Amino acid sequence: MVDTAALLSESLAAIAACDSSTALEEQRVTLLGKKGTLTEALRTLGGADPETRKTLGAALNQIKEVITDAIEAKKLELAGRELDARLKTERIDVTLPARPIPNGRIHPVTRVIDEIAAIFAEMGFTVATGPDIEDDYHNFTALNIPESHPARQMHDTFYLGRQWTVDGEQKNNRQPSTINRPLLRTHTSPVQIRTMQNGKPPFRIIAPGSTYRCDSDITHTPMFHQVEGFVIDQHTHMGHLKGCVTEFLKAFFELDDVPVRFRPSFFPFTEPSAEVDIGCKRGKDEIKIGAGEDWLEVMGCGMVHPNVLKNCGLNPDEWQGFAFGMGVERLAMLKYGIPDLRTFFESDVRWLRHYGFDALDISSLPGEL
Ligand code: DAH
Repeated sequence: MVDTAALLSESLAAIAACDSSTALEEQRVTLLGKKGTLTEALRTLGGADPETRKTLGAALNQIKEVITDAIEAKKLELAGRELDARLKTERIDVTLPARPIPNGRIHPVTRVIDEIAAIFAEMGFTVATGPDIEDDYHNFTALNIPESHPARQMHDTFYLGRQWTVDGEQKNNRQPSTINRPLLRTHTSPVQIRTMQNGKPPFRIIAPGSTYRCDSDITHTPMFHQVEGFVIDQHTHMGHLKGCVTEFLKAFFELDDVPVRFRPSFFPFTEPSAEVDIGCKRGKDEIKIGAGEDWLEVMGCGMVHPNVLKNCGLNPDEWQGFAFGMGVERLAMLKYGIPDLRTFFESDVRWLRHYGFDALDISSLPGEL
């Protein structure tokens, strides 16, 4: 005959004595496993008389339940204790140097955009973005680019979809637009418009992003990148533009005395407009940025045209500003000596291994300003 009271107290004592999850699991098998004490005890019921079977059966099943609960509770207690112990021993030493990631490089376009953003962040600029799919109004009209401007001609701009004239007649894609057609933005300048439409001046933003033109040869790819910069405030003048651009170029090319030249030019959205050249020396197979007898064009800039301000609801007598735009691939080629533009987008991992950057090699440029 099974001594149920002893069975219960001995089982509970054994459970309480377990000092690890492994020991507890062993104990569970000893008690409740196929050949466990309790299982064996339940098996003896078969040979017992009906009355005993009834009372003993009920008692044993109750004990089984109590033991199962006790094991569950102990399991939780041990797991908590073991986790605490592990956390104490497995401390992460954050001062250890990180392990380099063997695969994957940062593309020079990403790197240069990060560098540009870091330099302008130091000057108090924030990053703004706009959509790659723009419309005629934001990409051209609002920027004071008249209908007859060459940039509007089909061979430069990727127009999207079919054009519908106002009377509903469908025209083919090559006809000049009379309505606000969707297109792939040909420059990042429309972000100026969106920023002014959606916010309140003063503004000090840069807008990096992809741009698209229907052009492909050694020096043009249908998709490329630009960074637009623009400042709107109440007493902004050309001196601010020159200082800002010059400081940027010094920081970007990591040169203290890079010669910078502002050459008069024309952009419909700025007046006056200028192109910015930096000094360089041309060797046989390389261009060295810095003092030299040659000049290299690196960006366009100017004072924001009053018409652009008016188009965005700003009074040009109250607000003025300057803007500039630069090609990211061009700056990357000059800074890192990458000879061929088209290789940027060939997705050749050997190229990326050579010209790409380590993910952990964070640019330290801004601190050096
Ligand atoms: N949007 C011009 C382009 O794609 C670049 C540019 C020139 C932007 C002068 C400007 C600017 O903001 O002031 O060629």
